[in-house]
Amino acid sequence: MSTIAELLRSDKLLQDVTIKGWVRTFRSNRFIALNDGSTINNIQCVLDFENTDESLLKRINTGAAIAVTGTLVESQGKGQKVEIQVANIEVLGDSNPEEYPIQPKRHSLEYLRENAHLRIRTNTFSAVMRLRSALSYAVHKYFTENGFYNFHAPIITGSDAEGAGEMFKVTNFEANKAPTDENGNIDYSQDFFGKETNLTVSGQLEAETYAMALGKVYTFGPTFRAENSNTTRHLAEFWMIEPEMAFHDLDMNMDLAEDFIKSVIKDVLSTCKDDLAFLENRLLQEEKSKPANQRSEMSLIEKLKFVSDNNFKRVSYTEAIDILRNSKPNKKKKFQFPVNEWGVDLQSEHERYLVEKHFKCPVILFDYPANIKAFYMRLNDDGKTVRAMDVLFPGIGEIVGGAQREERLDVLKNKMEVLGIEEEELWWYLDTRKFGTAVHSGFGLGFERLVQFVTGMGNIRDVIPFPRTPQNAEF
Ligand code: 4AD
Ligand code: MG
Repeated sequence: MSTIAELLRSDKLLQDVTIKGWVRTFRSNRFIALNDGSTINNIQCVLDFENTDESLLKRINTGAAIAVTGTLVESQGKGQKVEIQVANIEVLGDSNPEEYPIQPKRHSLEYLRENAHLRIRTNTFSAVMRLRSALSYAVHKYFTENGFYNFHAPIITGSDAEGAGEMFKVTNFEANKAPTDENGNIDYSQDFFGKETNLTVSGQLEAETYAMALGKVYTFGPTFRAENSNTTRHLAEFWMIEPEMAFHDLDMNMDLAEDFIKSVIKDVLSTCKDDLAFLENRLLQEEKSKPANQRSEMSLIEKLKFVSDNNFKRVSYTEAIDILRNSKPNKKKKFQFPVNEWGVDLQSEHERYLVEKHFKCPVILFDYPANIKAFYMRLNDDGKTVRAMDVLFPGIGEIVGGAQREERLDVLKNKMEVLGIEEEELWWYLDTRKFGTAVHSGFGLGFERLVQFVTGMGNIRDVIPFPRTPQNAEF
């Protein structure tokens, strides 16, 4: 048995082939468009309907699983080189056309989200998810080829890596037996066999301990944020790629982030041509319905090539604030959140302005004010900024957040005290600074945001198989 992708690549003309897949369409009792998931392309199977049993013909419906045996011949039809002249056909699994939710027509993305278990049978979602798989492979390939070890960070953890308090609690209580305090609130301090734990928001702190022994490591796993954000960029469960490197300062960290992102994009530009061409065309159709001045200047593939062939712009937070203060972003000539003072956190409208209007390329912002960033970031000599970096992407905003880490035990302890982080909570983390501390750096890339950029999908819910958001944890 071959896959359709193999057949379309091969020169097996006039040979007998067997293909199993799902019917996309069946026209004129004669032409079956069959897809098996191996490629965006269907293969046309031509049936000798006069010699096919009527009852069998009735079972060839959209969504049915079938096995087809026949001869691979040159196709007379447009848009396909080969087709199968069917000798034998078997229905493996029926699909009742009255009930099957995925009809051979264009469904809205919202409707398909409600059918997340079946939307993968559409062209759009199969292309997106094949790209997601290819990107995942490209990530592992990149780090392996560059001397990194893959490290599996724990999912259940006692620490809050970001200190942002956005954690889901882990509990093994049966709801009605949960111990409560005097105010009737559940006492989480005992939930995980007597300890308080949560789902990880980032594998960084654990990755740091591994980098301080293996040199260069990376994690690539699910992370969880209990933030009630209903945007097209946020999920409650998302996958993060987190490299961590000993003896790397912030400049080396920025170099790695840029090289890594460009490399994985280049990788899929060469391995996923058909799927990217399909998604590019899908976006072109979408663009046609927009007013001319809102259409994107570049096609999807042009954009991917542009980003992977050109340098990212590196700008300090302080320079960025100056640019924003002197900018007139739109007709009303102001931002919704005006940038009046140094020290404010940038809103996504500011980030997008810098990337899409001002620099017109990916931007790495670095040296942020210490008081808007996490406790573990290396304090600069000015005493007020930290060696943080965020990579900002067109259409996406922040795709990477990272930093050079504070390697000085006394400075780190002092910062934790200021922020009220107990030393006992992170005694093991502090040990890396006690024993053989060294300059080190790392970053986290939100995998779904990368998949969004590469596929051009507007909503993050459409690039992860079963999205977890405040409204949606079904399936
Ligand atoms: O900027 P963040 O919060 O950084 C960290 O977690 C660091 N500990 C990473 C590190 O240095 N090892 O998150 C990193 C990236 C963001 O830039 C964004 O791409 C993605 O993770 N991200 C999300 N993606 C989807 N949904 C969410 N709710 C996300 N929150 C962050
Ligand atoms: Mg961030």
